[in-house]
Amino acid sequence: MKKLFGVIGDPIAHSMSPAMHNDLFDLYGINAAYLPFHVSRGNLEAAVKGLKALGVSGFNVTIPHKTDIIAHLDKVDPLARAIGAVNTVKNENGLLVGYNTDGPGFVKGLEYMAADLGSRSALIIGAGGASRAIYFSMAQAGIGRIDLYNRTIQKAEELVSSCPFKVESKVLGQETAEKTLDEYQLIIQTTSIGMVPDTESLPLSPEKITQDTIVSDIIYNPLQTKFLKEASKKGAAIQNGVGMFVFQGALAFELWTGIFPDVERMEANVLRNLGG
Ligand code: ATR
Repeated sequence: MKKLFGVIGDPIAHSMSPAMHNDLFDLYGINAAYLPFHVSRGNLEAAVKGLKALGVSGFNVTIPHKTDIIAHLDKVDPLARAIGAVNTVKNENGLLVGYNTDGPGFVKGLEYMAADLGSRSALIIGAGGASRAIYFSMAQAGIGRIDLYNRTIQKAEELVSSCPFKVESKVLGQETAEKTLDEYQLIIQTTSIGMVPDTESLPLSPEKITQDTIVSDIIYNPLQTKFLKEASKKGAAIQNGVGMFVFQGALAFELWTGIFPDVERMEANVLRNLGG
């Protein structure tokens, strides 16, 4: 019987996940379909019950449901529970089990860029949901030092103190962060600053970024934010948000099928979708 997968969210029409996963099902000869489902906040519980009753094999979860869905699942993986967000659900013998592949996907994308991740000092800019997934996953992966800069210092302090994994960490104000950027070999931009239509904005002055650094921005619209362009001018290696999107999808696909898919093909699929 054909297996059913999907993604629930609001809005959902422009999700790039259906094209990416359906292409992989074709590639690996798997008899399955992946559909977008528009689910408003008020319909979340009914939608999850319906998906379970229909026997879906798995689904992704996007804005605004990543946190609220936890209350409606049968089981939640410990990392996803610590992060407080689920983006992937797998039907395991009739039980819906929640996972987070956003943070681990981000780390896997970085590992493709640098073999020496563990020895790098990292600075994360931002302290929202995306930052939390990335910070916890990097800490779990054993990155030794992860500092945090956020406009609202208190939110950064809360994030650091709620991490269940051992990691050295300092919360920095803007001035200190800008002055000490050259101490980091990994800088990760997780805020919405620089996203269309606000493409001229910078989260921090990039002046002190060095060429030994990997600078990653989770934004993919535009493909190169001003922050990445400036980092590139300094000789740093850069990575945009397509990487995180592709690798969260790759880990979800692996959870569902046992196959770690062709990430280059996925990236090409996403770039076609973005018109790049
Ligand atoms: P997400 O789930 O995408 O991470 P979020 O949880 O709303 O989104 O978090 C947004 C992050 O971007 C926060 O770190 C936020 O900073 P504050 O905690 O100070 O609000 C940051 N952010 C968004 N717009 C910003 C701006 N104009 N200047 C500075 N930081 C901004």
